[in-house]
Amino acid sequence: MDKYLLALLGEAGATGLAKGIYMIKKEGRFFYAYENELTHWNYFKRFRKSRLEKPVYYLLLFLGIIVGLLGNKAIKLVVNKVEEQALNFYLRNFEVKGEIEKIVEDEKHHFIR
Ligand SMILES: [Fe+2]
Ligand SMILES: [Fe+2]
Repeated sequence: MDKYLLALLGEAGATGLAKGIYMIKKEGRFFYAYENELTHWNYFKRFRKSRLEKPVYYLLLFLGIIVGLLGNKAIKLVVNKVEEQALNFYLRNFEVKGEIEKIVEDEKHHFIR
């Protein structure tokens, strides 16, 4: 799979995950993350389209709901793991400038301390 397709599906999943968590935990930071991930997803739609976008989005939305129900420890564990993967993916595969630089900055703000 090429990096643009992976980024597209990754961001579709990240959008679903944030939305799912937000549906359970009505906290501003999860809504903020959801809006960010949606922006990222839309950005990568410029380069690729995939039939898998919606299924990945809904699968991760479902996972987000489950993780939300499991509580704060689970949320922190899953979110930080996902964001770490995302960050490493961008640093490894893209030149961090322009739009990618903004995305990388956004991802850094999604970590839960
Ligand atoms: Fe993202
Ligand atoms: Fe993120």
